[in-house]
Amino acid sequence: MTNQELFSIIRKACLEKGVKGKAHQVFIGRFIGHANLLHYLFSKLYSKRADSDSILIEVLHLIIDSYLERHPNFKKRDNKKQEKGNWFLSNELVGMSLYVDRFAGKLKNMPSKLNYLEELGVNFLHLMPLFESPEDASDGGYAVSNYRKIDKRFGSFNDFKLLQHSLQEKNMYMMIDIVVNHTSNQHEWAKKAQAGDSYYQDFYYTYEDRKIPNQMETFMPEVFPESSPGSFSFDEKMNKWVMSVFHNYQWDLNFTNPHVLKAMLSNIFYYANLGVDILRIDAPAFIWKQMGTTCQNLPEAHTILQLFKVAVEIATPGMAILGEAIVAPRQIMKYFGTGYLTNHECDIAYNATQMALQWDALATTDTRNMLANQEIILQKPFGTTWINYTRCHDDIGLGFEDAFIEQVGFSPYHHREYLKNYLGGRLTTSPSSGDLFGVNPATNDARISGTLASLCGLEKTIKKKDTKAIQTSIDKILLLQANSVLLNGIPMLFYGDELGYTNDYSYLKDPGKSYDNRWMHRPIIDWKKNEKHKKKGTVEHRVFKGLQNVLHIRKSHEVFADYNNLEWLESHNRSIVGFKRVLNNTHVFCLFNYSPEQQLLTYYVFDAIREQTTQLVNLLDDSQITIGKDYEHLIFKPYQFYVLQAKI
Ligand code: GLC
Repeated sequence: MTNQELFSIIRKACLEKGVKGKAHQVFIGRFIGHANLLHYLFSKLYSKRADSDSILIEVLHLIIDSYLERHPNFKKRDNKKQEKGNWFLSNELVGMSLYVDRFAGKLKNMPSKLNYLEELGVNFLHLMPLFESPEDASDGGYAVSNYRKIDKRFGSFNDFKLLQHSLQEKNMYMMIDIVVNHTSNQHEWAKKAQAGDSYYQDFYYTYEDRKIPNQMETFMPEVFPESSPGSFSFDEKMNKWVMSVFHNYQWDLNFTNPHVLKAMLSNIFYYANLGVDILRIDAPAFIWKQMGTTCQNLPEAHTILQLFKVAVEIATPGMAILGEAIVAPRQIMKYFGTGYLTNHECDIAYNATQMALQWDALATTDTRNMLANQEIILQKPFGTTWINYTRCHDDIGLGFEDAFIEQVGFSPYHHREYLKNYLGGRLTTSPSSGDLFGVNPATNDARISGTLASLCGLEKTIKKKDTKAIQTSIDKILLLQANSVLLNGIPMLFYGDELGYTNDYSYLKDPGKSYDNRWMHRPIIDWKKNEKHKKKGTVEHRVFKGLQNVLHIRKSHEVFADYNNLEWLESHNRSIVGFKRVLNNTHVFCLFNYSPEQQLLTYYVFDAIREQTTQLVNLLDDSQITIGKDYEHLIFKPYQFYVLQAKI
């Protein structure tokens, strides 16, 4: 298809659908402006196929239809967001990720919980998967059997709309997932494939025998080596092998088939037109497979994401895209787009490297690995942003680079062993009570499960009724949370962590969950316990108030918006890490002591502003500090942090 043909098809399709005149001028402009890129990306993937042009034309129609289906209120919201520029860079956004059933029982109960979330400072909800998935084989909802039907476990579509209405009334934002890499084996496409329909068998990677699976598996790392070893499963109904990189009931979609791409894009628009503000694309690193590779982070996976992004930019521009790429640090960076397409892929990515490094610092009391890795993390393009988080529903992976571990003088093997032992409950002297997840004896890989509180020692200290140690656990929780919240990016809390929920072992009694210890850190909220956050002196109150204070500081100072305005400091103390946030003439120093001991910090870190002022205000409690006045050093109590604004 030539460019001229492309534009004439778009023009004709728009006219046919009544998309003309002043009312649609802006959309037509967007379409014309982005059509070449869309065409280029699509051709990169599919030009070798005979049906490439005809499917591209279907995609063009889908874009127009999705634009037309967008509710006028959402179009208004799109415009408002566009006026704000990249609205998701704002310091006023604070997110929380939660399972509706475990947090509030049902969707219909959610609106009544919004005041609680607002009290904490949360105004952006990541609702964990809500669409239909088989209860006993759901991977927490990430095995979707129907992308358009709310699972009755959570309530009805109407309940969802009511919640969304309540959120928008309160000026709150919503994020949901789209699981693009795989469907449940009970999705209608899979069922048709099982019944022998070859059109739908082509939606998946299916094989008559083990020949290709055997070859591919030699290159593909296992994601769940304990509960679902290998990357292919045998389906008896189909009498074929099918690729299933995650659990055997999650069948990988075959994106070399453009019909799959179109079907998924249609689902993406469906979510956009539900009024979703940020779409979390689940596991994007896996969406393209190729024999002889790890089948992760392949260039075509990026092309698909760029295609999704440009299509969304044309039809439903207010919806930002988060790519959940939990991969090696340098690979994560590529999900923001590279080369000419920098800033044209995912708007947002998880700062998974930083998250893991904070746990590294807590376990080792040494922050040098965190500092060394900033060389990579700071390469985030201006205009994109991070999700910063301490814990989420998944495990903690230790996928940071060996080179930096070596650079700070540790052996990568022993360092990771230590972290796994310390956090994963294998070291009797460790205060943490986590567990190892995804242990792979062949590669010695393992990740870590456990709630923020349990990993910070609260589970053990409460059991021992050790008041002082309980406070230390709380200090650790708040240190980690403050570090995440004050970085550049959107803080994403995980429900329950705002109150110090410890591990829940009840999942062991549920056969649909017992094979997956990530459920230990996905609590069922007890609202009586939550009430305790109002009672002074309780653990819940101390954790809640401490976090609320830091969130409030972030939300009330624009310097914490993400203008890539973050500079790491050289603290000359291995246990103290810090960064400076600067905007115009506002300078805020965020400093964190990862040691259980008192630490001293020389006043050198403030040299940049010292000629302008020696006066600092600790935003945590409004206390004043004069650089160099009473002491030679700034004194840190164990696990203390400071948020110091220079009085200029
Ligand atoms: C993502 C989800 C995780 C899930 C996996 C497979 O990584 O966060 O919970 O198991 O994708 O869908």
